[in-house]
Amino acid sequence: MTIEQSPAPSDVADVYDGIGQIYGSAWGPNYHYGYWDDADDTSSIEVATDRLTDMMISGLDVRPGQRVLDVGCGIGHPALRLVRTGDVDVVGISVSHVQVAQANELAAAAGLAEKAKFQFTDAMDMPFPDGSFDAAWAFESMWHMPDRGQVLSEIARVLRPGGHLAIVDVIERGPVSPEGRKVLDHVCENYAVKSLGTVDEYRTALAANGFVDVEIRDISDNCNRTLAVMADAVETKYDELAALVGEEQATSLLAFMRLSAVTPEQGYLYLAAVRA
Ligand SMILES: C[S@@+](CC[C@H](N)C(=O)[O-])C[C@H]1O[C@@H](n2cnc3c(N)ncnc32)[C@H](O)[C@@H]1O
Repeated sequence: MTIEQSPAPSDVADVYDGIGQIYGSAWGPNYHYGYWDDADDTSSIEVATDRLTDMMISGLDVRPGQRVLDVGCGIGHPALRLVRTGDVDVVGISVSHVQVAQANELAAAAGLAEKAKFQFTDAMDMPFPDGSFDAAWAFESMWHMPDRGQVLSEIARVLRPGGHLAIVDVIERGPVSPEGRKVLDHVCENYAVKSLGTVDEYRTALAANGFVDVEIRDISDNCNRTLAVMADAVETKYDELAALVGEEQATSLLAFMRLSAVTPEQGYLYLAAVRA
């Protein structure tokens, strides 16, 4: 599904500054999915979300002192983990002023304000010079982008040749049944998403923008548990959610979250690539 109009940066910010704050208070500081090894893995949300961050850190293959771009930084939790693990410098961008302020506060509180800096910037049009980053990652920000090809072109421009890119994103997996379409449409309409990408679309857009050594993994089986666990967590904040969006919408958001967890057409992808 493609919604008629591309979400504006302010539409994305409204999601994160509205229901996103409630989801975050229930889910934790990593605004992304968790990764569980298999059905028997009983890892907590914190462990599972940090595990996904660690997978992304491996994908970046960074060295101490390098400069990394975080496209869609949330409140900066993954970036701070990257700084601590890799001893790199990170510039994180978001279209939510609220998130940028929270991320800079978190960095200062962790004593990492010199190593991790967050700013309001639209990934569709970045102010950074060509070749000014050694690596870049994007956790679940690409699904919001009006034009993923343009963002990949911008990332390719600001990465130096040989720089690594890692992405995780919610995707559409075909063929899509009418029931599946209903769930995917709900995602687009309620989370400021123009359309969900597909593995084929990513392969084509990466090649068109000069990325090589592309590795794409469908990790839906490891990650889709997130939606059920998140629904349980957010349900504990039901009153806050209902106060914000109304009872009917709060109930619908939770019901669709649980449905998404068992909808095979809603998938999750990990990719790593190198700027040629
Ligand atoms: C699901 S959150 C992920 C946050 C963070 N990476 C994490 O894992 O905790 C998606 C992020 O993408 C950002 N985003 C969405 N569209 C963007 C755009 N056009 N430019 C920059 N950031 C964007 C949102 O503001 C939000 O911070």
